[in-house]
Amino acid sequence: MTATVDTPLLTVEDLRVSFAYGGRPVEVVHGVDLSVGVGESVGIVGESGSGKSVTGRAIMGILPTPPARTTAKRMEIAGQDLRGGGVPEAGDGHQGQPIAMIFQNPFTALNPVFRVGSTLTEALVKRRGMSRSDATAEAVRLLDRVRIPNAKSRIRNYPHEFSGGMQQRIVIALALALEPRLLIADEPTTALDVTVQAEILELLREIQTERTMGMIFISHALGVVAEVVSRVNVMYAGRIVESGPVGSVYDDPKHPYTQALLLAAPKVGQFRTRTFGIPGSPPDPSSPPPGCAFHPRCALATDVCRDTVPDVRPRLAGGSGTASCHHAGESLVAEGATR
Ligand SMILES: Nc1ncnc2c1ncn2[C@@H]1O[C@H](COP(=O)(O)OP(=O)(O)O)[C@@H](O)[C@H]1O
Ligand SMILES: [Mg+2]
Repeated sequence: MTATVDTPLLTVEDLRVSFAYGGRPVEVVHGVDLSVGVGESVGIVGESGSGKSVTGRAIMGILPTPPARTTAKRMEIAGQDLRGGGVPEAGDGHQGQPIAMIFQNPFTALNPVFRVGSTLTEALVKRRGMSRSDATAEAVRLLDRVRIPNAKSRIRNYPHEFSGGMQQRIVIALALALEPRLLIADEPTTALDVTVQAEILELLREIQTERTMGMIFISHALGVVAEVVSRVNVMYAGRIVESGPVGSVYDDPKHPYTQALLLAAPKVGQFRTRTFGIPGSPPDPSSPPPGCAFHPRCALATDVCRDTVPDVRPRLAGGSGTASCHHAGESLVAEGATR
C-alpha cells in the first residue's frame, strides 16, 4: 500500500512545554513545529535531554499538569484539537483512540497481575465495544500479527513469562488494539539487544505500512531512526535544529550538530578505531546559553551565534526541510573541527 504522505494527519505548530522548578517556570521545549502525513513515518533524534520524550508526551496528552504546562499555536490530529490535554478520544462515533504511544520499557506498560490476554481483551471490550468472545478472538489475532508464537495458548501467560522483546511485541499489539491513526514510539528498542531490536523495527515498519498508520519514532540513535522513517527531525536543547528527508539529512547534514551526531554515531558493520564524541554536554534548561544553544559546543560558532537565536530556514533552496544555524551548510569536517 502506498502511503499518502501528502495528506496531513498531525500538525503541531509552536509547541512549548515548561516545567515548574521550585515555583519558577523553565521552558524545555521552545516552539517545535512538526507534521506527520497519513501513513508517514517521521523521526525525532537527538542526545538525551533534548526534549524528545516531552514532545511525544505533550502530543499524547500525558504530561502531568502541573508541573508541566503546554501551549501550542496549533496541535491537531485529523482536524481534532489536542490542546485541551488528556489522551484524545476518537471522535465521530469511531471507537479506539487516535494516538497510541509505546515506550522504552515494555514491562511498565503491562499490568503484571493480569494475563496478557485479559489486558488485550479488556482494551478491546472497553475501547472498541467488542463482545468478550469477539475480543478474545481479536486478541489472539493481534498477538499472531506481532508474531508471538502459539498466541492461542500464550494468551494465558503473565507479562513476566515473556522476554523483553516478546513483551514489546505485546505492547505493540495493545497499541494496535486501539486502532490508532498515529503511533508514537519513544525509544521502543533501546532496552533490547541488537538482534531483537532489528526484529521489532521490522515489525513496526510492516505494521505502519499495512495500516497506513502515521508514526513518530523517537530515538537517540541515528542508525535506528534511519531504519524506520522517511523524514527526520534533529532536536537539540528543546528545538528542532534540522529536518528533512532522512537520506538528504544524513548524506548532507547542514547543521553542525547533525554533522557532529553523525560523526559520533557508530557505523553499522564498521569498526572505528576512533570515536568522535561531541565535546561538552547539552545545556541545563534552567540556564540556557544566549544565542544559539549549541554555540558553546560548536567549532563554527562566531559572534552572531553567541547572541542571536538562528531562524528556521530552508535546508536547500527549493528543497524540503529546515536548518536553524547561522552557518548552515558550512562543514565541521572541512574546518578540521573534530580532528
Ligand atoms: N517531569 C518532569 N519534570 C521536570 N523536568 C522534566 C520532566 N520531564 C522532563 N524534564 C526535563 O525536560 C528536558 C527534556 O527531557 P526529555 O524530553 O525527557 O529528553 P529526551 O527524551 O530527549 O532525552 C530535560 O531537561 C528534562 O530534565
Ligand atoms: Mg526520552
